[in-house]
Amino acid sequence: MTLDLFGEEDLQQPTRIDRIGQQAWVLRGFALPWVEALLAALDSVLLQAPFRQMQTPGGYIMSARLSSCGDLGWTSDGLGYRYSPIDPASAAPWPKMPTTFYEIAEAAASAAGFADFLPDAGLINSYAPGAKMSLHQDKNERSYEAPIVSISLGLPAIFQFGGFQRSDPTQRISLFHGDVVVWGGVDRLRFHGVLPIKPGHHPVLGEQRINITLRKAG
Ligand code: SIN
Ligand code: FE2
Repeated sequence: MTLDLFGEEDLQQPTRIDRIGQQAWVLRGFALPWVEALLAALDSVLLQAPFRQMQTPGGYIMSARLSSCGDLGWTSDGLGYRYSPIDPASAAPWPKMPTTFYEIAEAAASAAGFADFLPDAGLINSYAPGAKMSLHQDKNERSYEAPIVSISLGLPAIFQFGGFQRSDPTQRISLFHGDVVVWGGVDRLRFHGVLPIKPGHHPVLGEQRINITLRKAG
């Protein structure tokens, strides 16, 4: 007699979902089914628009290195933060947003209750060990109606998710390769940041964490 209690489907882990706000969610491992296509697409974006260091309007150099893709890319310099259709490093338009980025963005947003999410900006951050992102709000976008979809790859990070004032207490959430965070609606303007990345080696990405945030900026 064959015991056929478990089909293939039963053995797959369901996606674990952690709620971190009224309209904010961590979708554990959500990007993993796309990860190979995602990394290939990322390579091609980075060939056209390599990571670069950026200066803040306050005169600091950001410890994470940045790139962008899509209709609008995000840049920072001594004059301020802005979205622009042109990559100042190449004086050409930013690379096109890869199909995989759209697919993950739409699927993750929809799993978090935001239908029909169509991003026009993909910001890509690379963190070497020690790099961090101070608490900030994402508010350079024209409207706050659309959510932010944030994909983590490579080394783990501790993500801080706070309130609406910089001084509000923050939740600390560990993010791993393939995790996707979605925040929008009443949580869209929450302060958030990344603590300094701990040294380590990731089997796929080496000594690096990459974060991709997909946004509707224009
Ligand atoms: C960001 O807030 O732009 C990046 C967040 C992250 O790296 O997880
Ligand atoms: Fe942000």
